[in-house]
Amino acid sequence: MRNWRGVLGIGKQIDSPDKKREFNELHFTAAASRYDLATRAMSLGRDQAWKKQLVASLPKITAPVCVDLASGTGDVAFLLAERFPNGQIYGIDLTEEMVTLAERRNRFDNVSFVCRDMAETSLDNASIDIVTGSYALRNAAELGKGLQEVNRILKPGGYAAFLDFSKSAKPVSQVSQYWLLKCWCGLWGALLHANPTIHAYIADSLKQFPTREDYYQLVRKSGFELISSQLFYFGMLELLVIRKE
Ligand SMILES: C[S@@+](CC[C@H](N)C(=O)[O-])C[C@H]1O[C@@H](n2cnc3c(N)ncnc32)[C@H](O)[C@@H]1O
Repeated sequence: MRNWRGVLGIGKQIDSPDKKREFNELHFTAAASRYDLATRAMSLGRDQAWKKQLVASLPKITAPVCVDLASGTGDVAFLLAERFPNGQIYGIDLTEEMVTLAERRNRFDNVSFVCRDMAETSLDNASIDIVTGSYALRNAAELGKGLQEVNRILKPGGYAAFLDFSKSAKPVSQVSQYWLLKCWCGLWGALLHANPTIHAYIADSLKQFPTREDYYQLVRKSGFELISSQLFYFGMLELLVIRKE
């Protein structure tokens, strides 16, 4: 996997739910140590601002129970703790290494992290006020199951906000976005980890992700109404806010 041939073959390594889960665990374990630096670099310094916008997009609730899916090193969970000091925030991530880093950074009494699959959170039905995820659902082994789990744990009327890469339906945009991400993110994998496969995965996971319109349809079919959408970098990324019906 540690060469450019490995980079080109990623698609096959994530073409079934089991393979994708296994790939992600290995991939994000390898990426964890320099994940924050890579994210800041790949987003040209915009990542933190987008995450702040995500948290600012949520409704005012005095003491919400929040779940941040695919919480990584904890950025969004910590922003939630600042916005909702009387709330309770749970970060959930598949990768032990990420959870350990998040726990090490945690300075909040009301934030905790747990190692779990986002589609099997073990949380009670209708127990959560707010679900968030930055670069989260695209990594779900099965997107539909991830959305069903969000719907199951949210209270009726509960909000979810997701920041992620986004794909237009136009084939020309898709091809140029794919190669841009493949080269730009692969370059950062090569520079920071001497492994171009790391981060080039973004392009392949997006290739398997629905276009914006198909994504909206799936979101609606999963029992949500669309509240707002903000696009960044000419539609390469989207902040989508939804509400459980
Ligand atoms: C691109 S990182 C995003 C981390 C963090 N949300 C952020 O924005 O910095 C994706 C995260 O998803 C986690 N992940 C991948 N597949 C997952 C799954 N099935 N369930 C939960 N977390 C998963 C990875 O371990 C990784 O930490």
